[in-house]
Amino acid sequence: MPRIAIFASGSGSNAENIIRFFEGRADFSFPVIVSNRSDAYVHERAKALGVPSVTFAKADFADGTRVLERLRANGVDAVVLAGFLLRVPQAIVDAFPGRIINIHPALLPKFGGKGMYGHHVHEAVKAAGETESGITIHHVNGRYDEGGIIFQARCPISPLDTPDDIARKVHALEYEHYPRVIERLWGNAPAHGMHG
Ligand code: GAR
Repeated sequence: MPRIAIFASGSGSNAENIIRFFEGRADFSFPVIVSNRSDAYVHERAKALGVPSVTFAKADFADGTRVLERLRANGVDAVVLAGFLLRVPQAIVDAFPGRIINIHPALLPKFGGKGMYGHHVHEAVKAAGETESGITIHHVNGRYDEGGIIFQARCPISPLDTPDDIARKVHALEYEHYPRVIERLWGNAPAHGMHG
């Protein structure tokens, strides 16, 4: 049974959506939510969900030791990044080979890299006059947004769409697909094609 830690820096709507998707199932568990911000709204969601949440300083993430101690204590064997904005250090990447994934709110390799998160991404997509955007779920390898792509889904953008409109469409794709990709990757569900 996968025991998954979710890393989140902000609102945590994806974290909540993932945990609710697997609620009542014995084959997945989410023993801890890990954040780099004690004031992130994800902690409120964690309380409401009954999932422990913990905050580590940026320096602890850069070093990795304390974070790894906590993950080991919780028996974690996979990590899901959901709006987590710090780089994952090599020590943590190495501790979970092939078992850390991230979601990026655009079609990588476009609109990725350091500083490209949340609203910045949707504003850049709008400024570039793109006719589509979407989501990319990918492995995490210690460099921003460069791990192997697992899944992408697309949405059209009209010239009238604002960055907020794009964000709404992208979030809808995230909610629909992220839990299902986790289920296909680490559950016993029959394998499906991973592109959609
Ligand atoms: C999500 O759209 C996620 O794709 C994005 O942050 C948002 C978090 O929303 N992640 C990145 O930009 C990573 N580069 P949430 O906190 O409500 O789940």
